[in-house]
Amino acid sequence: MSSAESSAERLSLREARRAVCYPRPDTPYCDRLLEELEEAGVEYYVALGSYRKPGLPLLGSGWAGNVFAAVWRGVLVAVKALRPDSRRRSMLRECLLSSLAAAYGIAPRVYACTLHSIIYRLVRGPTLSRYKPGSRWEARLVLRRLLYKAYLLDRLGVDHGELVRPGGQVLVEDSEPWIVDFDSASARRKPRNLTSLAAGVSRLPWARSMVMPSNEPRVREALRRYRRSLSLEAFEEVLEAMGL
Ligand SMILES: Nc1ncnc2c1ncn2[C@@H]1O[C@H](COP(=O)(O)OP(=O)(O)O)[C@@H](O)[C@H]1O
Ligand SMILES: [Mg+2]
Repeated sequence: MSSAESSAERLSLREARRAVCYPRPDTPYCDRLLEELEEAGVEYYVALGSYRKPGLPLLGSGWAGNVFAAVWRGVLVAVKALRPDSRRRSMLRECLLSSLAAAYGIAPRVYACTLHSIIYRLVRGPTLSRYKPGSRWEARLVLRRLLYKAYLLDRLGVDHGELVRPGGQVLVEDSEPWIVDFDSASARRKPRNLTSLAAGVSRLPWARSMVMPSNEPRVREALRRYRRSLSLEAFEEVLEAMGL
């Protein structure tokens, strides 16, 4: 644990309910969620993160979930809890697909799932949109690792669904990209992760000058060949055509 992490304030889940159940802490759902988290072994909420709207910090908050740091069975973790105002009923499908991706090192390790939450590894690093590579070499490494993870997802038959806008769906820690947010993922559609991500990364300000845009004829042709075979050779040709 870093010193910022060990000095961060710890609160009981009930004391932190305005963050855990943002934006509707006074709902019966919130009582059920807190009970469920306690039963699963979540001991404390930890005040870490830069999302400050609830009055207490969160690591992030999106359409589906509030993500906060917590102590679970003595370990510092991240918890994604279904937001009280979400239309979704459970986190189970997302948890299943995240666990599958985590088993292949694509997503952060999943420790436990409950009906309305995922308990998984806390990634200490910025989102891809806030990430600033230390060097061109490092930027290239991150992009290659990330595209490789998209290739693995394609092979697994899981379509992430939001990799055209990878800025908030990827976290970078020590030059390793981790894909998060399997909220829109599906194992029923034909996966298009690499194709989507190739378009997505060429729009990131820091990567734009390093990669060929995905509508460039050579990249398009390589992606077309890749979609037909999903082979490692075809994937490597895509990297080459992109200039990586
Ligand atoms: N394991 C994690 N470690 C640290 N921060 C995380 C983790 N998972 C998610 N976050 C943060 O929370 C934000 C929202 O998570 P996300 O899964 O995208 O939720 P939503 O489905 O609501 O969009 C992310 O963009 C990221 O900043
Ligand atoms: Mg998201």
